[in-house]
Amino acid sequence: MKLLVINGPNLNMLGVREPAIYGNETYKDMVALIQETCHQNGIEVEIMQSNHEGVIVDAIQAAYEKMDGIIINPAAYTHTSIAILDALKAVAIPAVEVHLSKIEEREDFRKISYAGLACEKTITGLGMDGYREAVMYFVNREC
Ligand code: DQA
Repeated sequence: MKLLVINGPNLNMLGVREPAIYGNETYKDMVALIQETCHQNGIEVEIMQSNHEGVIVDAIQAAYEKMDGIIINPAAYTHTSIAILDALKAVAIPAVEVHLSKIEEREDFRKISYAGLACEKTITGLGMDGYREAVMYFVNREC
């Protein structure tokens, strides 16, 4: 199984940005956790981060017929991007949405997730463990 993990804007600033909300672990720590979880479960994984909506749309399109699953944290684009929603719908690759924080308990503008409308599952509020959960969702989904 091949998974693509997509991280949106400002997630490269983890460890620095708002630690009270997002914790002290860095983006590098997150990549290591995802790689380790995938390795332990015999999954091939590609992990990317971009601050640009079009780059994320391009990555979703490039996954068409290449990837078996997408794990996506669109970050702020979660709440604004119909383009990312449309791209996920276009490729129709099973997708799981992950958010480090509990977006449903934060500001009203974070309660709407466009990308989530194209995802089989949404995981929020587990910090980086949410990515581990998302990988395990795909592991169990295959059975
Ligand atoms: C986030 C939540 C978003 O509302 C925010 O814009 C982010 C991170 C999260 O992982 O909790 O950048 O997606």
